[in-house]
Amino acid sequence: MNQKRAVVTGGSRGIGRAIVERLLREGWQVCTCSRNYQDLVRLVEELGQEGLHVRSCNVGDRWSVKAFVEFCVERMGGLELLVNNASILGSRVSVEAYPEELWEEVIKVNINGVFYTTKYCLPYMGKGSLVVNVSSGAGKRPAPYWGAYAVSKFGLEGFSLLLAEELKGRGIKVYALNPGATRTQMRAQAYPEEDPNSLKPPDKVAEFLLKLLKAEAPSGSYDYREGLY
Ligand SMILES: NC(=O)c1ccc[n+]([C@@H]2O[C@H](COP(=O)([O-])OP(=O)(O)OC[C@H]3O[C@@H](n4cnc5c(N)ncnc54)[C@H](OP(=O)(O)O)[C@@H]3O)[C@@H](O)[C@H]2O)c1
Repeated sequence: MNQKRAVVTGGSRGIGRAIVERLLREGWQVCTCSRNYQDLVRLVEELGQEGLHVRSCNVGDRWSVKAFVEFCVERMGGLELLVNNASILGSRVSVEAYPEELWEEVIKVNINGVFYTTKYCLPYMGKGSLVVNVSSGAGKRPAPYWGAYAVSKFGLEGFSLLLAEELKGRGIKVYALNPGATRTQMRAQAYPEEDPNSLKPPDKVAEFLLKLLKAEAPSGSYDYREGLY
């Protein structure tokens, strides 16, 4: 890659933030978003402005995503890497008990959001570019009581497969990346009884992604616990 420009959704904390930090250290320009603007202001204060562009955006709202992608392209001129990381957990209850509006919200953010971001970024991505969809073990094996989140991650694995086929001819690769249990706010929400110190920090996931990038790994579904190949 001659240029190193990335769009990362949900970069204000957790795994997204670790990816943003790592890419900046590796000399990338990064454009990121989250719904909470104050968190993005804090991110810039903590990481510095060099190479970092932020804008608030709700990936579940297509107009918001359109404006975010336009902002990124205006700032960076294009992109070589898209990391679809933003997602919400929803509720951990049975399908029967799952609140309808929450189900719709999770699908909107975790699936429609990935579709909008990918659709709007692709026109600015050339040969050698990469789309990374942050997936989950809940999208590979039945995870009872994970409801819309599990369904969205199964969808994301499928989306990654079809996108990889569609983009093969354009020289754009697609990874589905399962980070595994990681010390973040979402994990604490899912497992409030767990000791966060027993989990790996998010920068391990960023390191894994960088390894995949440097190894020029082919399109596929990658799992932190399984390593590279
Ligand atoms: N942590 C784990 O153990 C684990 C395991 C497997 C998979 N994952 C996956 O890893 C990814 C990152 O998770 P995480 O644990 O780092 O979560 P997290 O700590 O909750 O961080 C999520 C990030 O996404 C942003 N976000 C959420 N909804 C958004 C929306 N509608 N529009 C824009 N930004 C939004 C959040 O900011 P705002 O709330 O301000 O919008 C935040 O920056 C997710 O795809 C998750 O499913 C995590």
